Amino acid sequence: MSPLRTALLVLLVAYSGASDAAQVLLPRPPMGYNDWSVTFCALNETLFTKTAEAMISLGLQKAGYNRLNLDDCWPLGERAANGSLQWDPEKFPHGLPWLAKYMNDRGFSLGIYSDAGNKTCGGYPGSFGYEEIDAATFSSWGIDYLKLDGCNMPDTSETTYQKVYGHWHEVLNKLPQPLIFSESAPAYFAEADNLSDWYSVMDWVPQYGQLARHSRDTLVWNSTLYWPDITGWDSIMFNYGQEVRLARYQRPGYYNDPDFLNVDHANYTIHEKRSHFALWSSLSAPLIISAYIPALTPEEVGYLTNLDLIAVDQDPLGLQATLVSQDGTWDVLTKDLAGGDRLITVLNRGNWSASHTVPFSRIGISSSHTVPYRLKDLWSGQFSHVSNEITATDVPPHGTAVFRLSSLNTPIEIIPTGMIFNTYSLNCLTSSAKGSTSWAPCDAGDAQVWQTPEDGTVRSLLDTSKCLTDSGAHAPVYISSCDRHNPQQVWKYSVTGNLRSSLSGLCLTEGIYNATTSTKCGWETNAQVIALPGGIKLW
Ligand code: GLA
Repeated sequence: MSPLRTALLVLLVAYSGASDAAQVLLPRPPMGYNDWSVTFCALNETLFTKTAEAMISLGLQKAGYNRLNLDDCWPLGERAANGSLQWDPEKFPHGLPWLAKYMNDRGFSLGIYSDAGNKTCGGYPGSFGYEEIDAATFSSWGIDYLKLDGCNMPDTSETTYQKVYGHWHEVLNKLPQPLIFSESAPAYFAEADNLSDWYSVMDWVPQYGQLARHSRDTLVWNSTLYWPDITGWDSIMFNYGQEVRLARYQRPGYYNDPDFLNVDHANYTIHEKRSHFALWSSLSAPLIISAYIPALTPEEVGYLTNLDLIAVDQDPLGLQATLVSQDGTWDVLTKDLAGGDRLITVLNRGNWSASHTVPFSRIGISSSHTVPYRLKDLWSGQFSHVSNEITATDVPPHGTAVFRLSSLNTPIEIIPTGMIFNTYSLNCLTSSAKGSTSWAPCDAGDAQVWQTPEDGTVRSLLDTSKCLTDSGAHAPVYISSCDRHNPQQVWKYSVTGNLRSSLSGLCLTEGIYNATTSTKCGWETNAQVIALPGGIKLW
């Protein structure tokens, strides 16, 4: 790593609160089981013990799925006289300490659900005002993971959510063994007309916990009864679409959570299920299966235990893949993997099988490289050699091809490359041969694929000798010949999603009529929160 990258990494780690126990509590995304999508409030001890046995016998535990998490409705409707929550003895006749020990004895951990507000989403007692006592209770029961939902808060302001989740963070961290903290707060601010609060919540969740649910629930198994218009596939694409807006937050120790792998949802094709898994793995998302595990089919177990994809999910760099391009049919994503390897993920949103080719220049590899690389197809396990492009052949409708690219000798040199898009409007930054820029619907053309090298310049593949150039307040941002001494062409990206001109300190903005301008930086404004290739930029 260059000294510059190292220095900036140190800065970013400092920003994110490295001294916090939260930072190291969960070095890899969690893998396991949660009952909600299938059982709702009908969870019980036998379901959990049977599920644990099935996870062992089906090879899921061996593949890394080592958590079983209770969701809503596990307690009685009233607290005990001393104020503590009590498990429902009809559902859990041996009690939760017994269940935690049962799990620990078999190599699993037990997780639990509560709610930051006065009641859970299912109407059971919430933890508001009982934070200390509930944390101590869960810990004394042998539980090591808390999903904290955000229904029924005293009020729905962002500041109240921050206060309550921040308090929980302190309480959990004071425990002899802090609990892993899964925060549902962002989900309560998604999809607003003004996304400032959503972004603000996203700014603090990585400092308080290890994962955060940022958007909708994946569908419960029989959702078509309730929401006949939403297919399982729509739901996956929706949550994936929310997740790709947030890549900049992710790092080892904190993971964006696009929700469960609802494997046995009645409304998926096998290609859709496999895509769900391949995409979640590419994003290094939590892999929490919410399905009736004892009845999973061999085909389902087969893809859920694909060790190559699990290795991508659990990669030590913890990065979310970021978008190279998107055109309505094909999404191409890429990310760095530990050891200098590279991931290439190709999603076919189309309704027919088709092939798609990704040139090396689009995944950040300079075209001057002539040495062949080794490519592993992570579905078939087959190897091939490639030297300037990767072709995903016959990707089924709604299928996802995934490849791991390795160098045969020296590490692959990468310039982060891909789409730059406004995470509110989803318009892509677009260059033109004439030198103007605009925000336009994404079409995967070279004019929308950008390099963001370490020198702080921003160059589109249309002509990489030209750089994004700031011309000052409210004036159009344009493209002009790169000159390494020109401060108008140096940009700084921060985790708030702002791309700031070094010259003026102004922020890249989607102005009226999709104009590209630089304007005074506001706080998390719709017009200025931008996604860049490569996740958090180390420059
Ligand atoms: C919310 C959560 C779900 C589940 C239910 C339980 O909807 O997002 O994951 O925990 O509450 O009531």
